[in-house]
Amino acid sequence: MELLEKRIVSDGQVKSSEILKVDSFLNHQLDPELFLKMGEEWKRLYEGCEINKIVTIEASGIAIACMAGLIFGCPVVFAKKGKSRNVSDSCYSTIVHSFTHGYDNLILISKEHLFPEDKVLIIDDFMANGAALEGLIELIEQAGATVVGCGIAIEKAFQPGGDRIRSKGYRVESLARIASMDPENGITFVR
Ligand code: G4P
Repeated sequence: MELLEKRIVSDGQVKSSEILKVDSFLNHQLDPELFLKMGEEWKRLYEGCEINKIVTIEASGIAIACMAGLIFGCPVVFAKKGKSRNVSDSCYSTIVHSFTHGYDNLILISKEHLFPEDKVLIIDDFMANGAALEGLIELIEQAGATVVGCGIAIEKAFQPGGDRIRSKGYRVESLARIASMDPENGITFVR
């Protein structure tokens, strides 16, 4: 998506060859107009897929998923990050390992919000190693619901998550795919 790629180039900060900071429009200050256009693009890409629910994970996924929910006309459920003592029979849960931060997170969705008849689009802001996405897929499948596909704002395509999840047969639509980046030479997108 050209609009998002241009915004990443103009307002993103390449902190290292691994970390892109997008706090001015995606991760701290938020640009609702951009999010609306991202939602419209996912809607175009998933036209005819009969999506009836969007699932994301706190925190940064929520705002873009909520805008997408407006465009798709469906509810948005976010997985909560919890403590193991919060696990109960009333929740679907799994452990997600963050390679970026180096720790495990328990993620949970109440059984009240996911059903076998649901056709789900997963939305998230970043995909790096794909652990968060795989955790969300697991929760949705624990409910017997269908993962129609994933909508990612920024995929760091030089990290393994996207390829691994696509190779398992899941559809992943990333609006900007970064092939490489470094603080001196900037960002190259996958073409
Ligand atoms: P993975 O889910 O794809 O395996 O990614 P990983 O564990 O490596 O990343 C963990 C967190 O770091 C995620 O946010 C992810 O969005 C974020 N992240 C990964 N790479 C980048 C990057 O280059 N730039 C920025 N800004 N964020 C990155 P989180 O811990 O779930 O936190 P939240 O921000 O959603 O609350």
